[in-house]
Amino acid sequence: MKILIKRGRLIDPSQNLDIVGDLLIEEGRIVGWERNIEISEKVELIWAEGLWILPGLVDIHVHLRDPGEEWKEDITSGTLAALYGGVLRVACMPNTKPPNDTPEVTNYIIKKAQEKGWVKVLPIACITKNQEGKELTEFGRLKRSGAVALSDDGRWVQNSELMKRALHYAKNFDLPVISHCEDHSLTEGGQVNQGKMSAKLGLKEIPAMAEVIGVIRDLLLAKDTNYPVHLAHISSKEVLPFLRWAKEEGIPFTAETCPHYFTLTEKEVENYNTLAKVNPPLRGEEDVYAIKQALKEGIIEVISSDHAPHSELEKKVEFEWASFGMLGLQTLFPLSLNLVREEILSPLKLAEYLILNPSKILKIEPPSFKSNVLAEVILVSPYEKYILTEDLIKSKSKNTPFLNQELQGRVKKVILKDKIYDL
Ligand code: DOR
Repeated sequence: MKILIKRGRLIDPSQNLDIVGDLLIEEGRIVGWERNIEISEKVELIWAEGLWILPGLVDIHVHLRDPGEEWKEDITSGTLAALYGGVLRVACMPNTKPPNDTPEVTNYIIKKAQEKGWVKVLPIACITKNQEGKELTEFGRLKRSGAVALSDDGRWVQNSELMKRALHYAKNFDLPVISHCEDHSLTEGGQVNQGKMSAKLGLKEIPAMAEVIGVIRDLLLAKDTNYPVHLAHISSKEVLPFLRWAKEEGIPFTAETCPHYFTLTEKEVENYNTLAKVNPPLRGEEDVYAIKQALKEGIIEVISSDHAPHSELEKKVEFEWASFGMLGLQTLFPLSLNLVREEILSPLKLAEYLILNPSKILKIEPPSFKSNVLAEVILVSPYEKYILTEDLIKSKSKNTPFLNQELQGRVKKVILKDKIYDL
């Protein structure tokens, strides 16, 4: 079967491409793009005027909760939410139950994703056994079973000697290392950002300094081992001067943020709203502004969702008892698109942050419009406005502060190999 997408805005960061044109797909593979493709044979014609056509998004930071917490999410529901969000490759974090610290768990995830997943799943394995920060996992065996990266996400590897060894060891296996930067000795029992809100609500605070210390230590270890560290979910303005310094020094690192850190402030938790309880916490207005500047500058060059489903059991409880995290797969694109509306990023730059850069970090070929690659294509309306109602959310959990809020930017169609999904 041939599919011809006509007159869309084709955006492919791997080729620096941003033109209005046509894209041809045959038997689940990209044939090529041109300003105008005319063919006489029978094709499935998709008229895409006013739509953006992008390669599928690559989300480097997702919690699928499978195995072990399937009441919150599982590989099927999580990958369906991904499909609806235009995310066609999902890198899933290892803080499952049991954690992904053995080839058996990695194999389970890959097999279930192949059998019951909607999009490709790339498992991230633990740096340390049981994420306890005491003993390294077996990186070589994990890589051979299909792990694409290492992280103790949710926990920082607090022991510097162990983290240094992890970077050395990961270098041997060419496995990317993703760090959740948080000095836990400063955040134990913390609930919300340190500042006005923690004082007002009388909740134990999480200082930005905990993130700063984590970032500086990991940058120094990256320098010392000459092996890159990827810094997950950067949230605070205090971190940014150190990232600038590290760039100048030529230290190998990359940094990521998530839409909630450039969209929301700690004001969201004012009424003890557990839907806005997330770790790292939502910060102040100045942080939101600074994170946007860092994206503009390119010192933060990846946007991930940190999709973190939790059911009502974990969220409809007193603030102190509620779990940290919010959904993200279906809001990743519309919220990130605000950066284009605010002229912080061009559409091409945004696509780089959502597709190309995460692929580079994971050392995978990015989805693209190059000829002969598998078709992973999304058609999005950047203008469509809609309310994110519960029934639009494909995750098993509904924990998002954007519930019943208006979003702008919607994934309309996905072409994945030889399948077309009308969403
Ligand atoms: O808010 C968060 N939720 N932050 C994390 O680091 C972990 C995540 C989760 O697993 O729920």
